[in-house]
Amino acid sequence: MTNSNTPKILILPGDGIGPEIVDEAVKVLECLRGNGLLVEVEHGLIGGAAYDETRSPFPEQTIAQAESCDAILLGAVGGPQYDEVERHLRPEQGLLDIRAHLNLFANLRPALLYAELASASSLKPELVANLDLLIVRELTGGIYFGQPREQLIENNVRRAYNTMVYDENEISRIAHVAFLAAQKRDKRLCSVDKANVLEVSLLWREVMEEVHQQYPDVELSHMYVDNAAMQLVRAPKQFDVMVTSNLFGDILSDAAAMLTGSIGMLPSASLNQENKGMYEPIHGSAPDIAGQGIANPLATILSLAMLLRYSLNQEMAAQNIEQAVIATLQQGARTQDIVDGNIQAVSTSDMGNAVLVNLQKIISV
Ligand code: IPM
Ligand code: MG
Repeated sequence: MTNSNTPKILILPGDGIGPEIVDEAVKVLECLRGNGLLVEVEHGLIGGAAYDETRSPFPEQTIAQAESCDAILLGAVGGPQYDEVERHLRPEQGLLDIRAHLNLFANLRPALLYAELASASSLKPELVANLDLLIVRELTGGIYFGQPREQLIENNVRRAYNTMVYDENEISRIAHVAFLAAQKRDKRLCSVDKANVLEVSLLWREVMEEVHQQYPDVELSHMYVDNAAMQLVRAPKQFDVMVTSNLFGDILSDAAAMLTGSIGMLPSASLNQENKGMYEPIHGSAPDIAGQGIANPLATILSLAMLLRYSLNQEMAAQNIEQAVIATLQQGARTQDIVDGNIQAVSTSDMGNAVLVNLQKIISV
């Protein structure tokens, strides 16, 4: 039965391990629907999967679906079979296009260390115990989208350039998102830039200071990106919320993810001004392990929890999923990326099923 008031979730599995991990999140979603959650679910194509069928990584039909839904759950895009495809038709371009098309400028990437996984971190347990930081990455501007950009041949010499550009409005809207997030947490915001070298970073810093006037309860600090990368692996617990540009956020969020033991654990949300959002694990399509049934589905399942919280206002359902994940880790289930010692790793679907069993228990009490 369809009802125009029922929120609609668009599922975009994508490439590589995308379909396998999204399957597990869909099982979780179906379990919630079976227990009264009212949502419509629709599937669509993006990335290489879309290119294979339509010769476009973000085809018209997906554009229409993306416009009409309330939230999107995405797996991952990309794979080596597309290396020779023209850049504007590559799977990654589909991801960049959907972010730009829906104006998903605010990318929230929490890095939370589950106590059960402290020993899976590459850092000493005491450096990462209780780590809980949030990276707020600007997602629709900066050098990823700046014009002009070109690869050319000049006097027989190959040259290429990109443009790192922000205007003050793009900086202030991501600043507001970051300050508001910090207000709900430990009220400390670190803005990361390269103001000792780049004009665009000087403006970034200036606007951060201006917006700070409206959030006097939040402590604002600034850090150069090279130092921030070092501090993240030296003493990551000094950070509460970090805000940064598109490229710096891409790099720092991978580093932050690894602190938590596995990049296979971390969800993300990409939001526009109206909290319409796309939710995806921050790891990529991992073509090297695709199709083997060994990928970790937890980042995708946790992305579904974020989707329910931010775009559908279903806080209870979100917490139930998060608790089911914690219970599953406590029982010792580990996919190969987080396995410790010589215990046997579980498969992608075993992990999903274990979460499902725990979720059912949590819902029925
Ligand atoms: C990410 C990814 C993407 C990015 C790629 C796949 C285009 O690395 O979401 O972090 O660079 O933004
Ligand atoms: Mg990245």
